[in-house]
Amino acid sequence: MKGVIMQNFFKILFSVILYFSMISYGLTQENIEDKESMVEVRQNAMQAMWSRLDRLSTLIAQPGDVVTSSDGSDIVIGSENKSEPIEYYTLIHGKDPSQDAQEIYNLLSQVENFWPDNTTIYHVEYTNAEQLVWLIPEAFKRYYTDSIIASENLNKSFESQDEAKIKRSVCMLALSCGRCHGAFRKVKFDNLRLEGRGWTGNYETCWSYRNEITLNSSAIRE
Ligand code: HEC
Repeated sequence: MKGVIMQNFFKILFSVILYFSMISYGLTQENIEDKESMVEVRQNAMQAMWSRLDRLSTLIAQPGDVVTSSDGSDIVIGSENKSEPIEYYTLIHGKDPSQDAQEIYNLLSQVENFWPDNTTIYHVEYTNAEQLVWLIPEAFKRYYTDSIIASENLNKSFESQDEAKIKRSVCMLALSCGRCHGAFRKVKFDNLRLEGRGWTGNYETCWSYRNEITLNSSAIRE
């Protein structure tokens, strides 16, 4: 009699343990998928921003620069090029630059909150976000807002149709990406090779604006 009770007791205990361990396995699985997809979504959004910024850089291209057109061919900007940047952009890429600027704004807004504590390198090994994102979140947030405002300003500059203003706004946006990456994103050789100037926002036309930001960091939002 005692033996049968013990036997049943162990059976029930075993089932209970199995039941709870399955639940907790399920939960951690879900958790892993959750944080991994967060990193993937933010990386994909960043890639999408970069391809748009790279196109927008046609607006600040200098003679001798190479831009890739919508059909994939490389075009060298000639020294005799007298066309307006927007006209030139539309000619090469077959679309309106304000679409790219608007989409960068949308992408930035979409992944603004995709940086929870459980998505650091200790939780998701393939993230290239520096630990600093979580150590000094205020600074990260400030740089992020800089970039959002810079993308809004670029949209406004298209409405103004003021060529100098448009160039400055493209540069401010590119510099806002580069400034954040300089502090918060790990540098890997692969990044540099694939993304070139897009990664740092380091375009020749933008050097003077870079100095402006060095002297007054809020210039990036103007
Ligand atoms: C406030 C900070 C911040 C701003 C602003 C920012 N980025 Fe990033 N970016 C990051 C961080 C951090 C990562 C690394 C993300 C990861 O690996 O989890 C990253 C990753 C990337 C990547 C690589 C994505 C991949 O596949 O690994 C590209 C490309 C990129 N950013 C482009 C841009 C462009 C273009 C802009 C501006 C329009 C921009 N970023 C604005 C912080 C920023």
